Amino acid sequence: MAHNPLAPEWLSPPADANTLIDGLWPASAHRANDGAITIGGVSAPDLAARFGTPLYVIDETDARSRAAELRAAFDAEFARIGTTVKVYYAAKAFLSTEVARWMVDAGLNIDVCSGGELAVALAAGVAPGRIGFHGNNKSLAEIDDATRLGVGTIIIDSPIEITRVAAAAARHGAVQNVRLRVNSGVHAHTHEFLATSHEDQKFGVVFEDAPALVAAIRAEPSLNFLGLHCHIGSQIFGVDGFAESASRLLSLQADLLATGPVPELNLGGGFGIAYTSVDDPTPVRQLAAGLADIVAAECASRGIPVPVIAIEPGRVIVGPAGVTLYEVGTTKPVQVGENTRLYVSIDGGMSDNARPALYGAEFSVRIADRVSAADAALVRVAGKHCESGDIVVDADYLPGDVAPGDLVMVPATGAYCWSLASNYNYLGRPAVVAVVDGEARVIVRGETIDDLLARDTGISRSAHGVSTSSTSGEGSTSTTSEDVKETTR
Ligand code: LLP
Repeated sequence: MAHNPLAPEWLSPPADANTLIDGLWPASAHRANDGAITIGGVSAPDLAARFGTPLYVIDETDARSRAAELRAAFDAEFARIGTTVKVYYAAKAFLSTEVARWMVDAGLNIDVCSGGELAVALAAGVAPGRIGFHGNNKSLAEIDDATRLGVGTIIIDSPIEITRVAAAAARHGAVQNVRLRVNSGVHAHTHEFLATSHEDQKFGVVFEDAPALVAAIRAEPSLNFLGLHCHIGSQIFGVDGFAESASRLLSLQADLLATGPVPELNLGGGFGIAYTSVDDPTPVRQLAAGLADIVAAECASRGIPVPVIAIEPGRVIVGPAGVTLYEVGTTKPVQVGENTRLYVSIDGGMSDNARPALYGAEFSVRIADRVSAADAALVRVAGKHCESGDIVVDADYLPGDVAPGDLVMVPATGAYCWSLASNYNYLGRPAVVAVVDGEARVIVRGETIDDLLARDTGISRSAHGVSTSSTSGEGSTSTTSEDVKETTR
């Protein structure tokens, strides 16, 4: 089919709009004989019938394997240069107690950035010593809890936190391991990185101030300085940005070693994933090798020992393991000049995937319950919110006979979708279902109307008269069904 001029330049018409593009989908995703997309051995129609839509689906084996493979790759590459790596899973990408346990099973630690994330990690049984605590404005209560509960490391983000953390640790008779987050001046997004001497942003301390602040940390008897930390951004392809930042941090490391020990260096997270057919993220093994080479070379040229390395990836572990399943409610061809764009409206939207509205992020889509021989049509997948920017997939091609009642799946929604979800327009946040070996189970249940009303002090909970089986609205599988779906139990 010919390119539709309304499509962005990067998007080519596919040879077959039913094909699941390599690299975008969970490892187990494929089309079964009946054409339905199957993940973890469970088909999309079965998932929709059992749990309703919208629904987040996560391939458990895939998430676990990505965590284990990432750890193995970094272990191997950094063993080659004579050191070890601590991998922290960045819980902000997606956190539930189950997922925290998967990460710990794979040998990862957990990076949290609020008292809420800390509570989930602890509820999962994560040993406090395996947790790193981030944040540019940790509350005094959060700092107190972290030092009292024995959180493994606290990442100090501003000068003022040095005395706060020191005082809290002293109060609890603890010696708290801390890192100092430094603004390396390197900021990266996808392919390009920007390096400035002094970046204007809220995270970390100014590079030039680090020596004096490390001296202040070392002077506190209740603090143990583990090393420097930097995080240069998210959804980054290639090694160059990380290499530049590592190089800057290691020059600082060399200076700091003159006055005391600096056993570790934390290089943050940010490894990118594919959301569309044209995204080409650097494979994890290649990233690990590139980073190990640069760390080894920088340490050798400065004559300093190679530190223990820490990293904090989130997206690359859970992003590709998750998909979102929706039901199509309406379709509407919109003529723009000579060309047509087909609007496909689904039963979720910016409340379950805020990334397109927040960042202009691109996603892809496929019909999930059948294949079709119809000619491909340029579609825009829109949500059901009262807002024109409520778009989930700005542009992709689907078989042109896509119709109300079809199920569609959006891949690569495992990171920063559920965790950024909202109740905009009083839609309930969807359930999260883990699939593995033909079994599906709810790991976070969906919100009901009762959940949404639970905090409103002016309403009697039973007074609304609306079906409690779902909050996603008319036409969704879960509201039209008579019986209460498993998501609400
Ligand atoms: N470490 C720190 C200190 C971070 O701030 C972040 C992400 C990570 C690690 C994990 O980064 P990852 O490996 O997942 O890229 N909501 C945005 C992304 C925000 C990332 C915030 N920090 C998005 O959906 O693109």
